Amino acid sequence: MIFVTGGAGFIGSNFVLDWLAQADEPVLNFDKLTYAGNLNNLATLKQDVRHRFVRGDICDGEQVLALLLEHRPRAIVHFAAESHVDRSIHGPGEFINTNINGTFSLLEATRAYWSALPDSEKSAFRFLHVSTDEVYGTLGPDDAPFSETTAYAPNSPYSASKAASDHLVRSYHHTYGLPTLTTNCSNNYGPFHFPEKLIPLMIVNAQAGKPLPVYGDGQQVRDWLYVSDHCAAIRRVLEAGRVGEVYNVGGWNEMANLDVVHTLCDMLDRMRPKADGGSYRAQISYVKDRPGHDRRYAIDARKLESELGWKPAETFESGIAKTVQWYLDHPAWLADVQSGDYANWVASNYFNREGA
Ligand code: NAD
Ligand code: TYD
Repeated sequence: MIFVTGGAGFIGSNFVLDWLAQADEPVLNFDKLTYAGNLNNLATLKQDVRHRFVRGDICDGEQVLALLLEHRPRAIVHFAAESHVDRSIHGPGEFINTNINGTFSLLEATRAYWSALPDSEKSAFRFLHVSTDEVYGTLGPDDAPFSETTAYAPNSPYSASKAASDHLVRSYHHTYGLPTLTTNCSNNYGPFHFPEKLIPLMIVNAQAGKPLPVYGDGQQVRDWLYVSDHCAAIRRVLEAGRVGEVYNVGGWNEMANLDVVHTLCDMLDRMRPKADGGSYRAQISYVKDRPGHDRRYAIDARKLESELGWKPAETFESGIAKTVQWYLDHPAWLADVQSGDYANWVASNYFNREGA
C-alpha cells in the first residue's frame, strides 16, 4: 500500500481518486483536514475498502510512525502543506509549521520506519515529495523556463517554506540514503480546487454576480497544468523516477492572468449566459497587487518527458472546458466549501483592495 499525506486537499484527493481508478493498491490517506481538506472530495470512495482515511497532523511524528509500522507502506506521497500564497502573506506561521516542521517530522518518522525495513523493502521504498515551481522565484519575459538546475530564489513565505522542505528532503537522501523523489510542478487547475485560488474563485464570483478581482495589471504569467496530468506525472515518477532526482512538471501552457479570466468569462457567457445578456467580463475589477507578486512562472518539463515519457494530455482549452463544466455541475460541493470560514478569508484578503 501507499501512504498519502494531504489526500483530502485539491491535488491529493484527485491523486487518490485517480490512483484507485488505475490500480488496486490500497491507500492510507493521512490528512489534518484544515480548511483546505475536504472529505466530500472522496465521497465516491466511502464504501471502498482500498481507501482508509486517518485524520492527523504530519507534525505528530509519533502518530505517523505508529501508522507506518502498522500499515508498512512501500511508498509515501507527500502532498500535505499550507498552499496559498495570499494566506502565507497574512499569516506565515502555519506555513513554517506545516511545510517545514511538518515535513521534518514526517521525514524523521519515515527514516525510523525505513531504516528498520529488510534490505529488499528498503531499496524498493520511495518518499515522493510534491513541491512547487515557486521555489525558483520569478522570471522576466524573455528568461528561459525553470529547469531542475535553476537556483532557488523563493519570494513569498509560502515558496520559502516549500524551498526549505525541498532542501530537507534532499538532505535526507544525501545524508541517510532515504530513497527520495521530488517533483516541482506549476499551477494546477481542475475539479475540487478550493475557491481561494484564481480559477475557481473567478468561476464562483462570476456566477454570484460579484467582482472578479484581478491583482495589479493582470499581466502576471502562470504555466497551467491540468490536475489529472499532474497526477499521472506523479505516478510515473513514483514508478520509474531515479532515486534522489528532481523532476519539474508543467503544462506548457503559459498564460497571463487577465487572459485566463477573459477565457473563463467567455466560456461562462456561452455555458451559463447572464440573464441580462451581458458578459461576465463586465465584472472584472482591478485591485491592489499582491505584495512581492512573482511576475512569471514557466516550467521546462523536458527531463520528465525524455527520461520517463510523460507529457500532459490536456491543452489549456480542453482542461479549462472540463473544469468550468465540473464547477457548473457541482453546486452542492461549492456551497459546502463556501460555508464555514470561507467568507472571513474573502473579507480579509479583499478588504481595502478595490480601485487599484
Ligand atoms: P491544498 O491546500 O488544497 O491541500 C492541502 C491538504 O493538506 C489539505 O487536505 C489539508 O487538510 C492538508 N494539510 C495541511 N496541513 C496539514 C498537516 N499539518 N498535516 C496533515 N495534513 C495537512 O493543497 P494542494 O493545492 O492540493 O497542494 C498539494 C501540494 O502540492 C502542496 O504540497 C503544494 O505545495 C503543492 N503544489 C500545489 C500547486 C497548486 O497549484 N495547487 C502547485 C504546485 C505545488
Ligand atoms: P493563485 O491561484 O493564488 O496561485 P499562485 O499565487 O500560487 O500562482 O494565483 C494565480 C495568479 O492569479 C497569481 O498571479 C495571483 C493572481 N490572482 C489574482 O489576480 N486575483 C485573485 O483574486 C487571486 C486569488 C489570484
